[in-house]
Amino acid sequence: MPTKGQSGLQDVIAASTRLSRVDGEAGRLILAGYAVEEIAPRAEFEQIAHLLWYGRLPDSRELTELTADLSSRRRLPPPTLALLREAARNSVPAMDALRMAAATLSMGRPESPDEDARTLVALFPTIVGAFWRLRNGQEPLEPRTDLSHAEYCLHQMFGGPIGKEQARGLETYLNTVCDHGLNASTFVARVIVSTRSDLISAVTGAVGALKGPLHGGAPGPALDMVFEIGRPERAGEVILSKLARGERLMGFGHRVYRVRDPRADVLAAAAERFYATGGDRELYTLARAVEKVAVRVLAERKPERRLDTNVEFYTALLLHGLGIPKELFSPTFSIARVLGWTAHCLEQLRDGRLIRPKSDYIGPLGLRFESSTANPN
Ligand code: ACO
Repeated sequence: MPTKGQSGLQDVIAASTRLSRVDGEAGRLILAGYAVEEIAPRAEFEQIAHLLWYGRLPDSRELTELTADLSSRRRLPPPTLALLREAARNSVPAMDALRMAAATLSMGRPESPDEDARTLVALFPTIVGAFWRLRNGQEPLEPRTDLSHAEYCLHQMFGGPIGKEQARGLETYLNTVCDHGLNASTFVARVIVSTRSDLISAVTGAVGALKGPLHGGAPGPALDMVFEIGRPERAGEVILSKLARGERLMGFGHRVYRVRDPRADVLAAAAERFYATGGDRELYTLARAVEKVAVRVLAERKPERRLDTNVEFYTALLLHGLGIPKELFSPTFSIARVLGWTAHCLEQLRDGRLIRPKSDYIGPLGLRFESSTANPN
């Protein structure tokens, strides 16, 4: 029987990676050698893509080539667009539409891990933007090749001119959350390719894992809580009643971090910058007050388990400030994390072995099969 510590594979090392190091005790995240707070606010997303896929930052020629290659892959294949139209007609949740659309990308293409990685990363913003526009009765926008990845994400969702601050805010977000050790969705992706399956299958499974509220589905409910609280003086009362009903506070707690999630600091700084230049400053102040109360109440309630702010709380605040609707928070997370998923898949294909843990059977033994038991009629 696994101990409580091992259930959910807690603390079990299931892969070696050069992609990211999550130090839960110190609250540090390293992306392929660079501290997240060092690289995320300054790098271009395309530079980080090169870093994760090929193990080092690109020189200027390599960066130009990769940027051009990614932007040349932005057009949706017709079956994918047809599926998104149908999904929008049926008002399916955006993460389900993204999962179904990702699965269509193996149609009519030769299988190549590197090609698949590039196509997945390049196409996720088009899929999310096209679906959102169709859901809202608008036609998808023509892909543009003259925009950076972050600008293109905003363009596909909203059209119109893209503000410099807005694009920098989103790029910081994408860089900050693009990879994070062996989180649940990345584990799913690695397990799938460990069978020598392909990247489209792996990423389709990973989107399904990211969707859950304990993983990538948390920021929407985190923002709902801030709106529900409405005024700083109501924070204690609302939080206590949630906990009394046995609810979890979304945006708090983490499997690995025992201190504040370092990504929360990077996103808080990005949100602070963004809200200082515009946006709903009052909401930002309210969220900071809610965070303080939540951390204090959780410390009182669970002194034995440090529950601090995680990345999703500030994801909610930053993405809301950038004008991204709540329904697109998790899909936007996927637009970032698909980079990490594909990089892990390439690493697993290069160095990995079939991932096949054991289970501990705790059911009965020695039962006798009687035909009347199996078929009483
Ligand atoms: N609010 C209230 N109580 C909590 C919270 C929370 N946010 N997080 C953990 N707890 C409590 C649990 O109820 C449990 O209490 P118990 O021992 O009395 O049953 C105890 O703390 C330990 O919880 P576990 O479920 O063992 O912690 P685990 O490591 O499995 O969970 C998780 C980590 C899922 C992130 C959890 O903290 C949580 O549910 N947080 C809210 C959802 C969230 O913000 N998810 C985003 C995570 S970041 C990301 O995935 C990108």
